Amino acid sequence: MTKSQLISLLNEMNLDEKIGQLVQVSGNFFLEEENVQTGPISNLGMNENMIYKVGSILNTVGAKNVITIQNKYLEKSRLKIPLMFMADIINGYKTVFPIPLAQGCSWNTEVVKRCAQIAMKEASIAGVNVNFYPMVDLVRDARWGRVMESTGGEDTYLNEIYARVLVNAIQGDDISKEGNCAACIKHFAAYGAVESGREYNKVDMSERELRQYYLSSYKAGIEEKAKMVMTSFNIVDGIPATINNWLLRKILRGEYGFDGIVISDYSAIQETIAHGVSKDKKDAALRAINAGVDIDMQTNVYSNFLKELIKEKVLDIVLIDEAVFRVLKLKNELKLFENPYGNANIEKEKRVLLSKENLEEARKLTRETFVLLKNEKHVLPIKENQKIALIGPYADNFAITGEWSMFSERENIVTIKKALEERIGKENVLYAKGSNMLTTREMNYILKAEGKPLLKNGQELKIQKKYLDDAMIVAQRADIIVLAVGEHYKQSGEGNARVSIRLPKLQRKLLNMLKTLHKPIVMVLFNGRPLVLEGIENKVDAVLEVWFPGTEGARAILDVLFGDESPSGKLNMCFPEHEGQCPIYYNQYNTGRPNIKNLRFESRYQDASIYPKYPFGYGLSYAKFEYQDLNLSSTILNRGKRDKITVSVTVKNCSNVDAKETVQLYIQDLFGSVVRPIKELKAFKKVLIKANEDKKIEFEITEEMLKFWNKDLKYVSENGEFKVYVGSNSKDCLGAKFQLI
Ligand code: NOJ
Repeated sequence: MTKSQLISLLNEMNLDEKIGQLVQVSGNFFLEEENVQTGPISNLGMNENMIYKVGSILNTVGAKNVITIQNKYLEKSRLKIPLMFMADIINGYKTVFPIPLAQGCSWNTEVVKRCAQIAMKEASIAGVNVNFYPMVDLVRDARWGRVMESTGGEDTYLNEIYARVLVNAIQGDDISKEGNCAACIKHFAAYGAVESGREYNKVDMSERELRQYYLSSYKAGIEEKAKMVMTSFNIVDGIPATINNWLLRKILRGEYGFDGIVISDYSAIQETIAHGVSKDKKDAALRAINAGVDIDMQTNVYSNFLKELIKEKVLDIVLIDEAVFRVLKLKNELKLFENPYGNANIEKEKRVLLSKENLEEARKLTRETFVLLKNEKHVLPIKENQKIALIGPYADNFAITGEWSMFSERENIVTIKKALEERIGKENVLYAKGSNMLTTREMNYILKAEGKPLLKNGQELKIQKKYLDDAMIVAQRADIIVLAVGEHYKQSGEGNARVSIRLPKLQRKLLNMLKTLHKPIVMVLFNGRPLVLEGIENKVDAVLEVWFPGTEGARAILDVLFGDESPSGKLNMCFPEHEGQCPIYYNQYNTGRPNIKNLRFESRYQDASIYPKYPFGYGLSYAKFEYQDLNLSSTILNRGKRDKITVSVTVKNCSNVDAKETVQLYIQDLFGSVVRPIKELKAFKKVLIKANEDKKIEFEITEEMLKFWNKDLKYVSENGEFKVYVGSNSKDCLGAKFQLI
């Protein structure tokens, strides 16, 4: 349709039809029609008339569902405006990839891109038009459950890079084409900074902090032309983000020029009442539409109150028209007026979902997301002739796809035990579960919060003893123990904040028992956040961090454990030494009393270091890399002249193993009109360096890289002295000074 046709369509719509376009509900309202009056629709407080006018559907997909719902809907629709189907395809649809935090650890934009492209290929065929992805929230507090959804982790630059890659991977060159969807940048803004890591908690920070560290990843996604933005649940400077005029009108629409759709997060408009700002639903509706929120997700606030507001003349119809037009425009860009089913295709689903190619590629991509945290005495890779005992609650467990894999089925997931049997033959696999994941009490805590039936206490101790005994028998027969342990997948993700981010109790006990055998132990760690490994890490010889690695995760783990490929992941969030350090991140400020000698009146803790256990950017390899000869083409950078300094470093692979290394460049502004961090990531290169080879790696420093939000909140560079650091992580670097003049 042309623009003028869209405008005519808008003019033909009555007020109810317009408001409907601004409402989103989940598809079960259409699939469970027999319950219409007593079931879900009445729960939502909407009548059937309104349901058949809504503009979009949340998280009900699959080609058959999409086609059925669209047909039912269009039959009753006067103007035949098709529904738009939106879903959370986070780390995969049927083929599940590693969680975003893991993908980010690849420090390889190609890996992140391919994971998203394959996911989109599957999802678009399943009828998804809009993907609620990427989440680009900066995350610095491992207690927050949703750090697992962040690709860029604690770093602003990484978040920006991945935001760009993901928006392009999701949208492709044309969002209506098979394999593409509209992308939704979320959660605007600063959701990752919830105080003390507690879900939905307050966020309060200066405008400088917000702009310097938090906003630029959303902006980057918008610059790449993301079609949608989702608001966040938190407040920003005292006002819930979802009704925050300054944030949505001034920054998002004004400064960033965003003209796509703003959607509220799930019931976030209504929640502004509980926040204590909106007085009631009507008030919330007025505030949200005034702030520029186009679609209300899954409540009746817009559907039941916008009309009244128009009639009472407190709301200008222009605002409704603008919002509706944005919705129609996106439907048009998705070419839904020509073909309301989009790319939903039942036949193709059979061929494409979980296809051999998708699975094979997933396996390859997944390997790059693992981070080797420890490898004493080269215990890894496992040697050909070693007898392995595979032990732990994750050794034969399907729950390795993480919290967001709601469309995947467990029968498609390969467990490590199965993958090991494939590899070395069933008869050679020594396996024991070793322990339950959680105690009944811990498990019931999760079940209760989800309103699910609780487990009965009773047999637990006996069962646990049997698991331990079996594990000891199996371990005694082996040369090396592979211990697959970690958090329960329900311990991270939305609503799963924790104050203790350690390996669950029963699994610690298992490790302690195995330790008495004095055999090498390789810990394979499954988790959705950095964990505190105090008292754990020192008892094992190697730690391979595999996060929640997805459908092909198990095969990829074995590829790496057996040395087919060296681990090459680097942390995008540091691992704290203790929870009390959270939030902890590498680009801190020095303070006026830096921690130098660890004396009393320095900025420090009495009972812990101020540094993490494993720093940002850290990750080992089977190869050994040495950094030498840091060179600058000049120590002077001239401002405003497109000047550049070329920085070079030689990275030596002093081993017999070919491996990839991520060379990282950080900059420190030594003096500024405002305090600057001790180091900021500004560039990185991931390169393959062959065994015993040297590689010269070059970077360019430009004035643009030195800019920051100065004392007057202007984004500028300031003349003066800087330090550049190049190294294999944020801590171990070579350094040199230069000046901007
Ligand atoms: C709530 C989550 O915060 C958001 O990330 C998600 O996209 C929506 N629910 C829809 O499922």
